[in-house]
Amino acid sequence: MRRGWGSVLVVAGFFGGMVLGRKPEPSVVQPIRFSHAKHTSAGLDCAICHSSAGEETFAGLPALETCMMCHSTPVTESPEEEKVRAAAERGEPLVWTRLYRLPNNVLFSHRRHAGLAEIACTVCHGPMGEAVVPPPRPLVKQRMEWCLDCHAERGATEDCAACHR
Ligand code: HEC
Ligand code: HEC
Ligand code: HEC
Ligand code: HEC
Ligand code: HEC
Repeated sequence: MRRGWGSVLVVAGFFGGMVLGRKPEPSVVQPIRFSHAKHTSAGLDCAICHSSAGEETFAGLPALETCMMCHSTPVTESPEEEKVRAAAERGEPLVWTRLYRLPNNVLFSHRRHAGLAEIACTVCHGPMGEAVVPPPRPLVKQRMEWCLDCHAERGATEDCAACHR
């Protein structure tokens, strides 16, 4: 019965997406049930794991070595935490799937926005620091109109060539 309704919902979601003119975005699954909230409430800065957000084009996702700085010995009894060490023992990386990804022909730089213009992460990524499980979908829809609204507000460029190559 539950499975039946699940399929109905999946089908409804699919056609709902088609009506809106876009394919439904597939939900993202991560290798570990990582909790941003546990880490930010322990006082960790975003930059510990997204080390280049202020300085480079990409913010960067953390390598297993970054996790192992604190998790080489257990700090909780969570089986999820155990998976971090298990991956290290196998010598395998943790492969995180990107939640936000612009088309390849669009230019965007974290250095320009988070660095030079000092725009807070929450403005573009919502309350990611409070997420207790990895969100299956972006918390903020980053469409062209969204970029342009802020650019108009802040007097930044609206020239097509600035964002499109
Ligand atoms: C600077 C230290 C530090 C780094 C780096 C770090 N953690 Fe943690 N982690 C902690 C602390 C402290 C806790 C305990 C938080 C608590 O219990 O409130 C924790 C808890 C956890 C837990 C168990 C919490 C839960 O959800 O029940 C998991 C899983 C975990 N971390 C995974 C990771 C992963 C994956 C990485 C790398 C992407 C990472 N950690 C990087 C310090 C760190
Ligand atoms: C201890 C490491 C750690 C800290 C601290 C941390 N993050 Fe993350 N972040 C991750 C991991 C691991 C993922 C991938 C899994 C997930 O989505 O939860 C991620 C994913 C993200 C993503 C999605 C990126 C994408 O497109 O794939 C955003 C945005 C983000 N974090 C923002 C933040 C912000 C803002 C802060 C500070 C408030 C922060 N993070 C603090 C480890 C961390
Ligand atoms: C002005 C909006 C904006 C701000 C501010 C911003 N981001 Fe992003 N972020 C984006 C966009 C757009 C993407 C997708 C970029 C792409 O696909 O090229 C992204 C992607 C990411 C990603 C995944 C890809 C990557 O770059 O590694 C992470 C992680 C991330 N942001 C973290 C952060 C953190 C942490 C901060 C604050 C220090 C931050 N972002 C500030 C808009 C923003
Ligand atoms: C919350 C506001 C905000 C959002 C959202 C935003 N931007 Fe910007 N953007 C700015 C500001 C402010 C600047 C000027 C930064 C500086 O001082 O160089 C800028 C500059 C730029 C530049 C450099 C332009 C030049 O003069 O060469 C590009 C490219 C750009 N943004 C692309 C994007 C894209 C693509 C998006 C959406 C995915 C986006 N921006 C979303 C505020 C924003
Ligand atoms: C501030 C950055 C920015 C500027 C300026 C900008 N774009 Fe975009 N554009 C984007 C982003 C981000 C996307 C991808 C997200 C989306 O499809 O909404 C995009 C997507 C597009 C697409 C594909 C849309 C689709 O639905 O597949 C077209 C076509 C386009 N832009 C044309 C233009 C033209 C023409 C201009 C100048 C009048 C322009 N853009 C100016 C950021 C920008």
